[in-house]
Amino acid sequence: MPDPQIANANVNISLVPQQPRPPVTPAQKENTQRLIVVLAEACLQTIKVGKATDQKFQLLNCDDHQGLLRKMGKDIADARPDITHQCLLTLLDSPINKAGRLQVFIHTRKNVLIEINPHVRIPRTFRRFSGLMVQLLHRLSIRSVNGSEKLLKVIKNPVIDHLPTNCRKVTLSMNAPTIRVSEYVKTLDSGQSCCIFIGAIAHGPDTFADQWVDEKIGISEYPLSASIACSKFCHACEDAWGIL
Ligand SMILES: C[S@@+](CC[C@H](N)C(=O)[O-])C[C@H]1O[C@@H](n2cnc3c(N)ncnc32)[C@H](O)[C@@H]1O
Repeated sequence: MPDPQIANANVNISLVPQQPRPPVTPAQKENTQRLIVVLAEACLQTIKVGKATDQKFQLLNCDDHQGLLRKMGKDIADARPDITHQCLLTLLDSPINKAGRLQVFIHTRKNVLIEINPHVRIPRTFRRFSGLMVQLLHRLSIRSVNGSEKLLKVIKNPVIDHLPTNCRKVTLSMNAPTIRVSEYVKTLDSGQSCCIFIGAIAHGPDTFADQWVDEKIGISEYPLSASIACSKFCHACEDAWGIL
């Protein structure tokens, strides 16, 4: 029985897969060279709003909850779920995802790890995305409308346990030596996957994966939004791996 408060979140969302495609098998996950993106430090947190008689959960964000953020002593930069939304649209719409060579995880500031099924079609509007995230954070998984597959699910930490064995791990950071991504992708061994950690944040140090990564690289001489950083890396892999 759905929790009425959650069903009463911004919008109650049903998810449909992008297109019917066969699920990726564990063997494919292990053996196919893929790009894996971890959106780190994502600001995805639910809060209860409204009077006692009409309470509902919403996704904490800096546009709708300025008063609450002040009361909680939080900076508006701590409540930017829109950054995660923008990154997910960029990533899941990309040719590399459609070619089955992309896997996305979200790791939230509250230490919740989320696996995104590559077949999911993320809601285009922020309001609908928020409703979906509220449902996910309370129910721990979201199935497609026909219930055949889980499109979003909370999984066990740490993310490192979900990576293929042959996988280079790298943090993208403005404060690391800058390289051309197309050159960098060429340095992967044959069949080696690459997991990139990108901060789904407005500001702050890129130290979120220091315990796991092999190296840190800059991919532009300019400070980029997280979504543009995702996009640059996807394009480089598409070019290197012959995905048009
Ligand atoms: C808007 S930045 C926020 C963090 C950034 N350290 C700051 O304080 O402005 C979002 C993310 O994009 C990535 N990023 C931004 N500029 C980059 C660059 N020039 N090279 C590589 N990654 C970059 C980093 O992963 C960073 O965490």
